Amino acid sequence: MILMGPPGAGKGTQAKLLEQHFQVPHVSSGDLLRNAIKQKTKMGVEAKRFMDRGELVPDAVLLQAIEDRLQQADCRTGFILDGFPRTLPQVDALCAMVTSMGTKIDRVTSLRVPKEAVVKRISGRRTCHDCGAMYHVTYDPPTTPEICDRCHGELYQREDDREETVMARLEVYERQTAPLLAAYRTCGLLREVDGVGSQHEVLERILAVVQGNA
Ligand code: AP5
Repeated sequence: MILMGPPGAGKGTQAKLLEQHFQVPHVSSGDLLRNAIKQKTKMGVEAKRFMDRGELVPDAVLLQAIEDRLQQADCRTGFILDGFPRTLPQVDALCAMVTSMGTKIDRVTSLRVPKEAVVKRISGRRTCHDCGAMYHVTYDPPTTPEICDRCHGELYQREDDREETVMARLEVYERQTAPLLAAYRTCGLLREVDGVGSQHEVLERILAVVQGNA
């Protein structure tokens, strides 16, 4: 399954809930890149220049990492893609990957959230340095400010969540990624879900469309 939506729509949040529900891994291109930056790998160093400007990381930097991840054993029974594919060439690359794995994409779910709401969500997001758990200062605050409930790690604000970078990311989404929705709609794969509401309400809507009850 592919989860789509603008920056801050709640893809990562929902993908983690769906991972628990379906017991298949959440594969996030953004997390793969952020881990590479943290570990200061060649991919991380190259990716950081683009991510800090809110631009897409070139396919030459990213595609091999996605393919390597999808070939790991835990993806054999399925996976939830978050943040990938974002362009038509990435769709083509994914088609080649899943074909060689002998599988296919069953469903594309897109979260619809208005721009004002995603800006509020992004500006309040906090992430744990150690375990990656995600919070929101207003909508999903940790018990102790800036400290992770799960592992007591320190919470931080992503560098690409600064206001000017967020605006660039939203523009990149509209220009390069939103056009994919029409293609998925035409081939009958797309299900659009209202992403406004509590995390649980949004999850229930996604499950209803994925399981064919809506
Ligand atoms: P990526 O990490 O994929 O970021 P994104 O798509 O911009 O999405 P976000 O992670 O910002 O938001 P989200 O939709 O996951 O929302 P979340 O659940 O966190 O990409 C980052 C960068 O990496 C890109 O700009 C690019 O440079 C590069 N990159 C990644 N993939 C690439 C690719 N395929 N090709 C090229 N480059 C690539 O939620 C946000 C906040 O809202 C959280 O605080 C959360 O707690 C809160 N929240 C969630 N749900 C709700 C709710 N229902 N109500 C209220 N608050 C909520």
